[in-house]
Amino acid sequence: MSPAGGTAPHPAALVSIGGDGLALGTRHGLPMPRPRRPCEQPRRGEALLPGHETHGLRDGRTVTVRPVHADDAAAEQRLVSALLSPRSRLLRFHGAVKQLPPGLLRDMTQVDQRCHVAIVAETRADDGAAWLVGDARYVVSDDDPLAAEFAIAVADDWQRLGLGRRLLQRLAAHAGRAGLRRLDGSVLAGNEPMLALLRQLGATMRLDPASADTVIATLGV
Ligand SMILES: CC(C)(COP(=O)(O)OP(=O)(O)OC[C@H]1O[C@@H](n2cnc3c(N)ncnc32)[C@H](O)[C@@H]1OP(=O)(O)O)[C@@H](O)C(=O)NCCC(=O)NCCS
Repeated sequence: MSPAGGTAPHPAALVSIGGDGLALGTRHGLPMPRPRRPCEQPRRGEALLPGHETHGLRDGRTVTVRPVHADDAAAEQRLVSALLSPRSRLLRFHGAVKQLPPGLLRDMTQVDQRCHVAIVAETRADDGAAWLVGDARYVVSDDDPLAAEFAIAVADDWQRLGLGRRLLQRLAAHAGRAGLRRLDGSVLAGNEPMLALLRQLGATMRLDPASADTVIATLGV
């Protein structure tokens, strides 16, 4: 599980956040600041929490897909800093990120599962240690309670096994149950794997009017 080679960051995406000294692509939606106002998404009983499932991958390995927990912080950090290659981090965060700053790590693991819904794929090493190998999430738009912005990442050694598709399908199904109508994602125009996955799922694409290098993909849910 070693990171692979990387490329230069997308310059337009370099925006500094907080006092953590890192540059992240906040204008592309995720990672984003925590909502400043209380979540207004209605509670919908059991549909509120994404469920657990054991999912078999194309190579025979299995993962557990489940909601993220506050105590996943160390594993989430390991996913980003050790299991994603520099290129995958660039594609996910639209910027040169080596590890998640503490505030962002907290925001990504302490989620309300209503306005910010996050699911992870977990595997167990031989010594019993839990590793996260995939992460998919959405954050409901401030302007439109029926829309949310999504992002996803799968550990490099776990890519091309069907995990990304499964995570996105589950996220979209949950969004539908929660009453949303669509998920929007900002995808760098050169990110062919993600664009291919989105095409498979029937997403519509349009150029981002704010950035020639970015495509806005919309998934109906
Ligand atoms: C994009 C990403 C999530 C896909 O995850 P994955 O688990 O590898 O995807 P899957 O195995 O489920 O593949 C689903 C489909 O996507 C397409 N796809 C995935 N990887 C591809 C690649 N390297 N080249 C071409 N198509 C690819 C294929 O159509 C594939 O279907 P197929 O396997 O039946 O041919 C993963 O590559 C990733 O994490 N990339 C880095 C982070 C990123 O780009 N995030 C998106 C920002 S929103």
